Amino acid sequence: MKKKTIADLNRLHEIDGECRHLEKIAELLNWDAQTYLPPNGHVERAEQLALIEGLGHEKFTSSETGELLEAVADDENLSAIDKDLIRVLKRKYKQDIKLPLDFVSSCARAQGLSQAAWAKARQENNFAAFLPHLKTMLNFARKKAEYWGFTGNRAYDGLLDIYEPDMTADEVADVFVPLKERLSLLLKKIAAKPQPEAGFLTKHFPVAEQKRFCTELMQRLGFDVNRGRLDVSAHPFTCSLGAHDIRITTRYLKQNPLSSIFSTIHESGHAFYEMGLPDSLRGSSLADGASMAIHESQSRLWENVIGRSRSFWKFLLPVAQKFFPAQLGDVSLDDFYKAANQVQPSLIRTEADEVSYSLHVILRFELERSLFSGELAPEAVPEAWRQGMKDLLGIEPLSDAEGCLQDIHWSQGSFGYFPSYALGNLYGLQFREKLLEIIPDFEQQIERGDFAGIHEWLRTHIYSWGKRRSPKDLLQMVCEKKLSSKPFIDYIEAKYSNLYGL
Ligand code: CO
Repeated sequence: MKKKTIADLNRLHEIDGECRHLEKIAELLNWDAQTYLPPNGHVERAEQLALIEGLGHEKFTSSETGELLEAVADDENLSAIDKDLIRVLKRKYKQDIKLPLDFVSSCARAQGLSQAAWAKARQENNFAAFLPHLKTMLNFARKKAEYWGFTGNRAYDGLLDIYEPDMTADEVADVFVPLKERLSLLLKKIAAKPQPEAGFLTKHFPVAEQKRFCTELMQRLGFDVNRGRLDVSAHPFTCSLGAHDIRITTRYLKQNPLSSIFSTIHESGHAFYEMGLPDSLRGSSLADGASMAIHESQSRLWENVIGRSRSFWKFLLPVAQKFFPAQLGDVSLDDFYKAANQVQPSLIRTEADEVSYSLHVILRFELERSLFSGELAPEAVPEAWRQGMKDLLGIEPLSDAEGCLQDIHWSQGSFGYFPSYALGNLYGLQFREKLLEIIPDFEQQIERGDFAGIHEWLRTHIYSWGKRRSPKDLLQMVCEKKLSSKPFIDYIEAKYSNLYGL
């Protein structure tokens, strides 16, 4: 490689590394805002975030970055990793350069304020108080898409692209249509069957004990507590602050231990992805998941495919019984397995069972599409939400707190994010097909609480690639297939036909 190319490349790595540090600092401020920040600290925090995000934007979109990217692009002697890095940086540069600095800062500021307003509005069940912020965030999102060249009807495609590169709303709809149909049908069949006995799960489970249990659980799954921690937040999430600082959160409900258990497993799944990224990518823009949906495929694989399986509870129930002898001491494995997989449409997405979960996501996807096409006015969201819940799940929220105010995403301006959750289910089940081929005793390993083989496979085939491949390419590489809802539908129909005797 030419001396000049080496120098240019080093400088590019330096700029990328510094921008990543700034991103992580912003994430830390965000993590703190969602965990420990006192309510009145939000206004100043929004200013701090606006400053940091503005600094990062300014640094990355400088003419120097543009020139360096051009200068090194054609060198054939670049390593494979550097080639991938430059492709990813070029794509990001092309997008970021189109966003004016004051737009980025004011968007970050508005986001901080909107998020705080949403938390209060949800607590007070006051949609009217959140409405002006919702409108602001919609305008920012629309404007952003417009800067990127996604105008009119295509605005939503531009937003989807942030989370799922190169996927359009029509492509999402294509996989969601059969999913919606089959899940609705399955839900109806289940509704006609008697429910399992699940009263023991509504006994009192002290929060302190749940906390001890979740901490033990995440470690048994393979979470390295020297490289991460578990905290509490209104909305469980994972925050990666560096190669060796990956933080997850959960929430504890006294009469619903499964809430903290499954969100701990879910967020651990995200954390494993981050913890498993290879050292060769550390500190660069490639040290990330392939996309939001691929990230979600990992969390949902652990939470559902593994965490809600009979094999898993064969391993975990005896452990749980030691922590909660009075509540679970006399519960049999089969009773627990059935209760933990009870299908009952709920108002809250994050508490939803495996069958109805994707329907919650489809509702949000459809509402977002109508918001961006102009068919749905922000004022009409609560009513459209109630109607949608009635149509899809047959239940209707009595309050907006349990309706359109339940999720944090819109308050952050993260329109286009929701589909990732259901797409993650689909990717996850496609990966599972491959896992079963390679690890024939998959279930037996889980029964023993031995997750080393699963971790190893995921590390080799998914984590090790970081952001080097697009979701489509990664799926093709791992499964030699295109995205499909079939493996997920097959899995869910088989599992629940068995559980409910359909
Ligand atoms: Co997740």
